[in-house]
Amino acid sequence: MRISEILFASHNAGKIKEIKQMLEPLGISVKTAADMDFPDVEETGSTFAENSLLKSQTIAAAIGIPCLADDSGLCVDALDGAPGVYSARYAPNRDFDKGMDKLLAAMAQSENKSRKAHFSCVISLAYPDGKYNLFEGRVDGVIAEHKMPGAEGFGYDPLFIPDGYDVSFAQMSKEDKNKISHRGRAMRQFKDFLTSM
Ligand code: IMP
Repeated sequence: MRISEILFASHNAGKIKEIKQMLEPLGISVKTAADMDFPDVEETGSTFAENSLLKSQTIAAAIGIPCLADDSGLCVDALDGAPGVYSARYAPNRDFDKGMDKLLAAMAQSENKSRKAHFSCVISLAYPDGKYNLFEGRVDGVIAEHKMPGAEGFGYDPLFIPDGYDVSFAQMSKEDKNKISHRGRAMRQFKDFLTSM
């Protein structure tokens, strides 16, 4: 099916800019909350795919055009995969400095001393008839003992050291992070899918 218009269900200005830059050259017009109203969907799923699909399928059915949504988060082995789908809510008042302290404290108390962790991202594209496509990306790494310095990034970036590197995501340029990140990988899969249509 040829797509000419997509609603991107995100309020994040950075993600909106990125998606527009990727889709507009392919002749796909990207609508956002600034162009049309769409329902707020509660993220009640227990996986990134469920949450991503909850958003895209509900909204695509409500507005009648394809909808793109994403869900992502950090999964820590020593915490049995937490904070996972609760990554945003795990940080008190969405204060990620406090959220990182909370994570380090929880790891210090865990009997499992592994520092392994990964970020996951699932992008879903849902059509008004309920059909959908999923694009998944993951990056493995370790949680640093302390927050690493570095002004780049957001969320838990100062704690995450990707495998093969000795700096955290917060010390990498946006471009370098994007080459290996969960979101970058999921986005490239999505782009490959669109260009092969
Ligand atoms: P959402 O997918 O926008 O709902 O993001 C979920 C949460 O996961 C964010 O609020 C961040 O806490 C965390 N997260 C997702 N991706 C990243 C990343 O690339 N770096 C740091 N934190 C991230």
